[in-house]
Amino acid sequence: MDIFSEIDQMQRQASILTRAGKTIGFVPTMGYLHEGHLSLIRRSRAENDITVVSIFVNPIQFGPNEDLDRYPRDIEGDIEKLRALNVDVLFLPSMKEMYPEGYKTYVIVEGLSDKLCGAFRPGHFRGVTTVVLKLFNIVKPTRAYFGLKDFQQTLIIKQMVRDLNMDIQIIACPTIREHDGLAMSSRNKYLTEEERQGAGIVYRALLNAAEKLKEGAGFKEAASTLRETLKSSPHIREIQYASVYDPETLDDLTDVDVKIYKKPEVVLAVALYYGNARLIDNLLVKLR
Ligand code: PAF
Repeated sequence: MDIFSEIDQMQRQASILTRAGKTIGFVPTMGYLHEGHLSLIRRSRAENDITVVSIFVNPIQFGPNEDLDRYPRDIEGDIEKLRALNVDVLFLPSMKEMYPEGYKTYVIVEGLSDKLCGAFRPGHFRGVTTVVLKLFNIVKPTRAYFGLKDFQQTLIIKQMVRDLNMDIQIIACPTIREHDGLAMSSRNKYLTEEERQGAGIVYRALLNAAEKLKEGAGFKEAASTLRETLKSSPHIREIQYASVYDPETLDDLTDVDVKIYKKPEVVLAVALYYGNARLIDNLLVKLR
């Protein structure tokens, strides 16, 4: 596996590969790799000639009081995992390489970036879209792989790629879960042993609400089942959002009559503090 820490090296290699007619699959990450990331990498390996993974904890997507400093890191362990999967290239830039002094340009996908997580993490998606666009320009991928656990992030990146006419296929991949349904996330590390035992409640709450919808309940009833199930957990400190949303616009559907909603799917989505860990999860539900 080649490891490049300079943008120049990565760009030169990407150009050589592209000119040779190779397809490049790209998995951008912030490291501390878990099975969720590895599933994206396996898919990229299966669908492309070359797979590039980036590890970069992107400071501009963290708010001033967020977990940038304590975000879990394990570069040695990550490199071992990438080698075991036969990844071709790891792009591992420094903060200075990505944002040199005098850096001034940011990308914003309007509207979608202010909803759900965006309402609680102002500037977060501006940081995500900016770094992802930069990484796309550096890695020049044919396809890029994102997990559906970050449903809003994937939707926003698809919108950016469409709006800016970027010739890259965005592949949204299923959420990988622990045995009790907890969505895999690097931030699960913040859970204590006791909290971890109970954290499957987040997925159970989504399943309970999905069940209600399948039984023909309205959106209000499903949203209230979701919140009530979550509230039964003593570890949930704060529910930031938990409701039924339009999966294209992210509008809250609580007050919409299910009979006049014409789309085939909704997304149940939550963000909450479980102990000290901010967890997000979601479930797409087919209505008809
Ligand atoms: O999902 C992530 O890990 C990050 O938001 C990403 C896409 C790597 C950008 O920093």
